[in-house]
Amino acid sequence: MSEPVQTPELFDKIVNLCKRRGFVFPSAEIYGGFRSTYDYGPVGVLLLRNVKDAWWRSMVQLRHDIVGLDASILGPPQIWEASGHLTNFTDPLVDCKECQSRWRLDKLDDPNLCPNCGSRNSFTEPRAFNLMFKTHAGPMEDSAAVAYLRPETAQGMFINFANVLNTSRKKPPFGIAQIGKSFRNEITPGNFVFRTREFEQMEMEFFVRPDEAQHWYEYWCATRFQWYLDHGMPESQLRLRPHEADELSHYSSGTSDVEFRFPWGWDELEGIANRGDYDLTQHARSSGERLEYFDQATNERYVPHVIEPAAGATRTAMAFLMAAYDEEEVKGETRVVLRLHHRIAPFKVAVLPLSKKPELTGPAQEVLALLQPHFMCDYDETQAIGRRYRRQDELGTPFCITFDFDSVDDRAVTVRERDSMAQERIGIDALVGHLCDRLT
Ligand code: GAP
Repeated sequence: MSEPVQTPELFDKIVNLCKRRGFVFPSAEIYGGFRSTYDYGPVGVLLLRNVKDAWWRSMVQLRHDIVGLDASILGPPQIWEASGHLTNFTDPLVDCKECQSRWRLDKLDDPNLCPNCGSRNSFTEPRAFNLMFKTHAGPMEDSAAVAYLRPETAQGMFINFANVLNTSRKKPPFGIAQIGKSFRNEITPGNFVFRTREFEQMEMEFFVRPDEAQHWYEYWCATRFQWYLDHGMPESQLRLRPHEADELSHYSSGTSDVEFRFPWGWDELEGIANRGDYDLTQHARSSGERLEYFDQATNERYVPHVIEPAAGATRTAMAFLMAAYDEEEVKGETRVVLRLHHRIAPFKVAVLPLSKKPELTGPAQEVLALLQPHFMCDYDETQAIGRRYRRQDELGTPFCITFDFDSVDDRAVTVRERDSMAQERIGIDALVGHLCDRLT
């Protein structure tokens, strides 16, 4: 089993596979596409959901100290005034006076050279471009109706801090987790779903005593890094990189990024930030509400500090595909296989009757019905069995179940494992238990 080397060619193959197999389609494609937005197809929606479920499972389900939240996407300007986004959430934008192309200055290799027309010193003075999408809530398009689409899910957790504290019986150290869409009017979206204007985040705000913040920062850096390894990312393609002082966001006293080795170099999947008491203090000041914790045991009142692991779901789903992609020679042919961790794989099991004859498809669908309450299953009765196996390999399906003519008499099926292609005969009565042992 080889480890994929991330190259531009491999990236093209992933983009192609995503379209061909129904992972990701360009949005509004029949109208020529729409500005780096993407739709997740029948297989992609399962992949993305599995990434989010795997995160939720480890962050909420398997812990007693983190609770969930689903806050609204639309918010009033006061939130973004207090959070600092109205002032600070900007990128430096320059225009080339020769060819009128537009660039993000901090992302240019040479800040004096236009990558489009090659002109030197042709850029306008940089201007701060705010990345938030502005809209109006209600029928009047006046300033009183201004609202913003959230550029991060995080603020929903801060503004609900008191609500959660008062209703959940949690006390620091405790966290609030949320998965949802965020929107940023990126100047230079690109690299497929890596940087888009509409994307999904998986964020958790962990509220701690100020004197314990460093301990929890280190804890979350290690825990989040391990999550990617536990879900099948090779360690050689991951690293944890502490930010330099001049990279830190306006709220952060320390940030480390979990980075993946993309074809264009190391780039961010997740940031773990020590946000101090910045957010609760800002929202308390702005709203007039007390956002603190009173510890009855010690008679202490304090503003908790926050450690925030903030990951991108859409970006991480793409990285899982890139890390899992493999090609190998099998009987003189190239087999493409996604060696996805079973928790991330879109389908866990595919049921394949050997032929389309009703004496096989009928009972094969009974096997399907037996498995569906336990696993996300695919069912396919078209084409030769070898081609159907290859299709499932490309989707990353860990197990294929073949119902053949012997199955009618011996009530057993062939179970084929994706990575080794090993096959074994399992009685239908034992099938659910057999697969549960391997898929949980
Ligand atoms: N609350 C902190 C925060 O939002 P961030 O580093 O700006 O931090 C967190 O975003 C994660 O969200 C990133 O590590 C990345 O995975 C994802 N992300 C950010 N901008 C994105 C974009 N334009 N497209 C896709 N994913 C994005």
